[in-house]
Amino acid sequence: MSSASSFQSDQLNFPIPPHGGQLVNRLASGEERNEWLARLPELPRLTVRLRERCDLEMLAIGAYSPLTGFLTRADYERVVGEMRLANGLLWSIPITLGVSRQQADQLREGDNVALYDELGDPLAILHLQEKYLPDKRREAVEVYRTEDLAHPGVEYIYKQGEVLLGGPITALQRPRQELYPEWHYTPAELRTVFRERGWRRVVAFQTRNPIHRAHEYLTKCALEIVDGLLIHPLVGETKGDDVPAPIRVRSYLAILERYYPQDRVILSLWGASMRYAGPREAVHHALVRKNYGCTHFIVGRDHAGVGKYYGTYDAQRIFDDIELQDLGITPLFFEHTFYCRQCGMASYKTCPCPAENRLMLSGTQVRAMLTRGECPPPEYTRPEVAQILIEGYRQMLQGAA
Ligand code: ADX
Repeated sequence: MSSASSFQSDQLNFPIPPHGGQLVNRLASGEERNEWLARLPELPRLTVRLRERCDLEMLAIGAYSPLTGFLTRADYERVVGEMRLANGLLWSIPITLGVSRQQADQLREGDNVALYDELGDPLAILHLQEKYLPDKRREAVEVYRTEDLAHPGVEYIYKQGEVLLGGPITALQRPRQELYPEWHYTPAELRTVFRERGWRRVVAFQTRNPIHRAHEYLTKCALEIVDGLLIHPLVGETKGDDVPAPIRVRSYLAILERYYPQDRVILSLWGASMRYAGPREAVHHALVRKNYGCTHFIVGRDHAGVGKYYGTYDAQRIFDDIELQDLGITPLFFEHTFYCRQCGMASYKTCPCPAENRLMLSGTQVRAMLTRGECPPPEYTRPEVAQILIEGYRQMLQGAA
């Protein structure tokens, strides 16, 4: 009874086919859902963490097509070592469910395991195919390019439990979204919107930050060459010092209202979690946006990076070794962009001026200004965005006090 299916509509190939050719749908409905709900009390039970909860949603709605569940060993090993699924399809980030040995010992391959969130809501059934031991060190080195436990992605591998559980899932519901649930479009929904708007070429912008002037510049340069722009901020799990999603969303609304053409832009919140895997995650972000129907994807400087683990353009260079037909979506690469007192918004590629003309502020500098209640210069951040961030930091500090 693991029959959740793929969407059956040619229209869902517009404007670009999903990864692997078919948009996966693992969300049970009607009779099938009722049957699973009725069986819940008799099934072995596991509580998943926020990362897996986010992954379950992505699997359920087909954002991770062609994956139908958590990776089994053959897929896991090839993804880690070669960025491919066992069938040869490009895939760069292992999507896994880790548990302790004790928990794993209670489960048998072939079991249907009920997965709950931390509040006790039933989310999905895992049709357990395989229990296996991952090589954590290898995963860290291959996927994150470091063994350093201070890297949040590497830390997670070691925190995750010793045994991985692989197998397809059947989702019983989309996880509850506290943050503007109506804006969490599924891949099928976004594809429908693109079709209705007649957008044949759509560029996606991934971000885990407020939209500063550099981001605005990238997105508008990209929009110049396509029909529409998807602003697709990640709002699942991020590390503690990233700006919290509720504050970011307010800032997105403010900047979109004043500075973007409404008929060319869609904001959709993306409930996935960050891995901070830099280059590997850039490939992942691109493949997933293809599933949402985007034809182009922005990769700027240090995409999905953290600390100093990756070189500024490593997340672009990784695409040099990938055939465009394997990727399907077209990456758009941008050099480091900034405001130049002589040129206006520009990048290392387009600005001929000496460094002293360029306004470059680090994330740490900007955070310090905002927490002091100071607006960063308007050449760095739109004043409407700065005000929301100052207020957000004020509330956070009050909450922490
Ligand atoms: S990310 O983790 O989502 O990549 P962030 O929100 O900072 O982080 O960046 C979103 C996108 O904008 C990424 O593609 C990143 O490379 C790009 N980017 C951010 N700042 C700049 C900049 N100053 N110049 C060029 N690209 C940038």
